Amino acid sequence: MADTPRKILVTNALPYANGPIHLGHMLGYIQADIWVRFQRMRGNECHFVCADDAHGTPIMLKARELGITPEEMIAQMNTAHQTDFADFGVSFDHYHSTHSDENRELASLIYTRLRDNGYINTRVIEQLYDPEREMFLPDRFVKGTCPECGAEDQYGDNCDACGATYAPTDLKNPRSAVSGAVPELRESEHYFFDLPAFGDMLKAWTRSGSLQPEMANKLNEWFEQGLQQWDISRDAPYFGFEIPDAPGKYFYVWLDAPIGYMSSFKHYALKNNIDFDSYWQEGSDAEVYHFIGKDIIYFHSLFWPAMLKGAQFRQPTNVWAHGFITVNGTKMSKSKGTFIMARTYLEHLNPEYLRYYFAAKLSNRIDDLDLNLEDFTQRVNSDLVGKVVNIASRCAGFISKKFNGELANSIEAPELLCEFQAAQTLITEAYEAREFGKAMREIMRLADRANEYIAVKEPWQLAKQEGQEQAVHDVCSMGIHLFRILMVYLAPVVPALAKQSADFLQDTLHWDSVHTTLTGHRIDKFKALLQRVDSEKVNAMIEASKDALAAKVDATPAEQAPQTPLEPIAAEIEFDDFAKVDLRVARIVSADHVEGADKLLRLMLDIGEEKPRQVFAGIKAAYTPESLVGQHTVMVANLKPRKMRFGMSEGMVLAAGPGGKEIYILNPHSGATAGMRVS
Ligand code: 2FM
Ligand code: ZN
Repeated sequence: MADTPRKILVTNALPYANGPIHLGHMLGYIQADIWVRFQRMRGNECHFVCADDAHGTPIMLKARELGITPEEMIAQMNTAHQTDFADFGVSFDHYHSTHSDENRELASLIYTRLRDNGYINTRVIEQLYDPEREMFLPDRFVKGTCPECGAEDQYGDNCDACGATYAPTDLKNPRSAVSGAVPELRESEHYFFDLPAFGDMLKAWTRSGSLQPEMANKLNEWFEQGLQQWDISRDAPYFGFEIPDAPGKYFYVWLDAPIGYMSSFKHYALKNNIDFDSYWQEGSDAEVYHFIGKDIIYFHSLFWPAMLKGAQFRQPTNVWAHGFITVNGTKMSKSKGTFIMARTYLEHLNPEYLRYYFAAKLSNRIDDLDLNLEDFTQRVNSDLVGKVVNIASRCAGFISKKFNGELANSIEAPELLCEFQAAQTLITEAYEAREFGKAMREIMRLADRANEYIAVKEPWQLAKQEGQEQAVHDVCSMGIHLFRILMVYLAPVVPALAKQSADFLQDTLHWDSVHTTLTGHRIDKFKALLQRVDSEKVNAMIEASKDALAAKVDATPAEQAPQTPLEPIAAEIEFDDFAKVDLRVARIVSADHVEGADKLLRLMLDIGEEKPRQVFAGIKAAYTPESLVGQHTVMVANLKPRKMRFGMSEGMVLAAGPGGKEIYILNPHSGATAGMRVS
């Protein structure tokens, strides 16, 4: 245990409240959770908080599209996010929302202090305005032709085709992405935070030596470019907090988002008798760490420390960025089925597999991490199942069958035990430094040593020999002692496996447990602790992620979690485009489950042709096959057939709804005749 327990507060970047959690998000949460669990096991006071990032234009517009209030939407999303995190074993002490009383109060307090200390100024700026929706348009909500290369349909901040960056006012033929209206320039007074005033303080922080080198380099680049005044206000309509002394003006979402770290902790601290101020006041001796993705370094390493300084709060001890994930070597892709939602993963695979795989590949650098699904399967099976759990399964049977579940009174291989104990220094340092890959390599080296030991001693042979009872007992007990130490070391990464192991060992596992042994101790009967990763399930997860796309194409977003908001309304189409669609009344001849597909039903549809058409529809959550047979529905009869894993899909049924059970197929009254054209 650490000599004097440290006081530590850890946060993770707050996910936006308008979309589900995917595996890209999970990298950061798992990384932070491993570090937090390690600190807690060491005996440190380590609090871990998070929240949904609930404000901003995209959230306001998404709720509008759904026809619900932003409050309703963010409440639904908050529940979905919390469930995903809990199911991945992420051990937040508290999960809050930036749309909370605490956050409103703290945002107002910080703003007021910044203003009173002279760090807020105002200036009139010109911005594009949507005259139809009566709102100013953020850059991403203006689309038009790239001023550099002429590519059409580019966002207002940069061009996907040529990479140029520009102001939305530079776009040719600009259009509002919200209404399609031609935006106009309008003036409005904005509030700015004086970031340049904090240049010296930020430079000193960069030179402190504790920042990740990549982050320090980034900061230096920004210093060279010169720090700018930061626009912290947005005009109504906006979903956020109104600025206290500026009616109709709202805090920009990035102003109150990081304050969400404080407000989540405040809510939790108050409930648990923890002194909030001792963590956040200037000169605090507590440590505060923010785990973030590499895309939001600017906000966390410049604005946030400067805001805190200007409002007389302490600055974070450090900000730790991680890279992005790729899957099978490329960017996550919906068509390849590698854009995997956390929930889809959980429906197919054990979260501890992913926790281990991420740990095995994580370092403290900002590198991207590839989730190669073959390597994932092989690595988890070989390391966790083949090396670690195998030790217990090879030894436990003898202990329970021959020795009544009791471990021997002596240690068979004291030098080996010492080697396992001595490794704690390296493993501790590696965890502390977020070099989890290094820690996992050392743990697996030890697991190899334990397996070699058992292989050399061959207790199964000894068990067949006369007079070797004691030797069998000693060797198998030794194996269990070594397994126990490995599980202590692995506990931050695979907490559920560690808990099951602790139950089997009839013990509790602490970081200090490695210095004691369970000689003479009774253990429980061994039950399989971890199943091998089944490649079939990995494939099913990919297929299910592909189904999401298929469902979308079929206008039936069945794969989306029930809380997931609908996709934005697609771009307008001309009547001529619509007229190309040949809609026919179809009689559902048969409906069946599709083996290996979670969301699809196979429908055979009679539209008066010789043979019925086969169509795969993502409506399994909403309809039983029996309920569909004999019903009429409407299908797109001239959709080019698509080859799916399960066979050809020769059309599409019309269905809509928010997702999951709430998908409705179009059901014309039963007088309709199959094949009748819909006009
Ligand atoms: O980039 C994002 O997903 C933001 N929602 C992160 C916010 S982190 C913090 F500042 F709130
Ligand atoms: Zn361009």
